Amino acid sequence: MDHIAITKAPSTRIHEVDWKNLGFGVYFSDHIFVADYRDGAWEDLRIIPYGPMSVEPSMCTIHYGQSIFEGLKAFRTKSGGVNIFRPYKNAKRLNYSAEMLCIPAFDETLLVAAIQQLVALDQEWIPRERGHSLYIRPVVFGTDNFLGVRASQGYRLIVMTSPVASYYAEGINPVRILVDTTHVRAVRGGLGSAKTAANYAASIHAGKTAKEAGFAQVLFLDGVSREIVEEVGTMNIMFLIDGELITPALSQGSILAGVTRDSALALVRSWGITVTERPLSIDEVVAAHTAGTLQEVFGTGTAAVISPVGELVYNGESMPIHGGTIGPLAQRLYDTITGIQFGELEDPYEWNVHVQLESGVVA
Ligand code: COI
Repeated sequence: MDHIAITKAPSTRIHEVDWKNLGFGVYFSDHIFVADYRDGAWEDLRIIPYGPMSVEPSMCTIHYGQSIFEGLKAFRTKSGGVNIFRPYKNAKRLNYSAEMLCIPAFDETLLVAAIQQLVALDQEWIPRERGHSLYIRPVVFGTDNFLGVRASQGYRLIVMTSPVASYYAEGINPVRILVDTTHVRAVRGGLGSAKTAANYAASIHAGKTAKEAGFAQVLFLDGVSREIVEEVGTMNIMFLIDGELITPALSQGSILAGVTRDSALALVRSWGITVTERPLSIDEVVAAHTAGTLQEVFGTGTAAVISPVGELVYNGESMPIHGGTIGPLAQRLYDTITGIQFGELEDPYEWNVHVQLESGVVA
């Protein structure tokens, strides 16, 4: 493995954490992993204390958003071990996003090894409460100080970690979602399938408007016909209609290939339930609701895990789902995915990558 130089923080900030009110993305662990891309190569791999970073006012990314990121999680198991859930899948997706944004790839095995080392070093920051986890956020951005619009020549990769509770205040309780007929997250041929800042910037106005109206988030429709269901922005979306699990297909190129989406689909298929990935229109959802065959709706995401939707509102019409309570499929998925993550259930697909804690160093 390429050498990672380690500079330890002189003291820890862990006493600042309010473990009973973790929220999401509020606290940041003592160390970060950093690598810089210069003259065509990633170099200067290091773990250093978390802290302010200086950038010049002309740094291209703060103007043009050439940045990509990932989200994955580490879990403390009852037996004292630590699992990272499907990190190779995130490393691969980071490189997919990198290609979309003209950012140089980073070795996937090396990234996972660096994450293991970082998590081992800051292992005390992994929450002890069941359901809470250490969120791992890799981010890569252009570093050139230049105002022309082109791909940067220099880049920085940072991995930071953050102890977190549920993403939504509702936790595993159902959320209210507004079907957005005004804003669009991404269009075919755009950046929708990349995990890049632009997609989240595009969701901020919609999310704010929805929150002010009492919704947790919006459900985006496609940007052309405004008829096809896409994603929530912070999670993918799934519909159980008449015993069949239907979720938007990735082939449109405008939604994110979620790791939890993939995990949920694999599990549901293994349970003998029909899974269909295809374009799904909002009219079809409304028709299923009217016919009484819309059994469950839920979101999937690393931050959100499984988030049941208790109500969808479209064009002013309310569609209560499963009586506003979590349905059995969403509950089974939540229990199974978190059971695997926390090492309580068998891991048939070998999704967990274990972190070696004794030495704090992974070979
Ligand atoms: C995630 O689920 O990891 C996300 O990136 C969603 C959001 C926190 C940006």
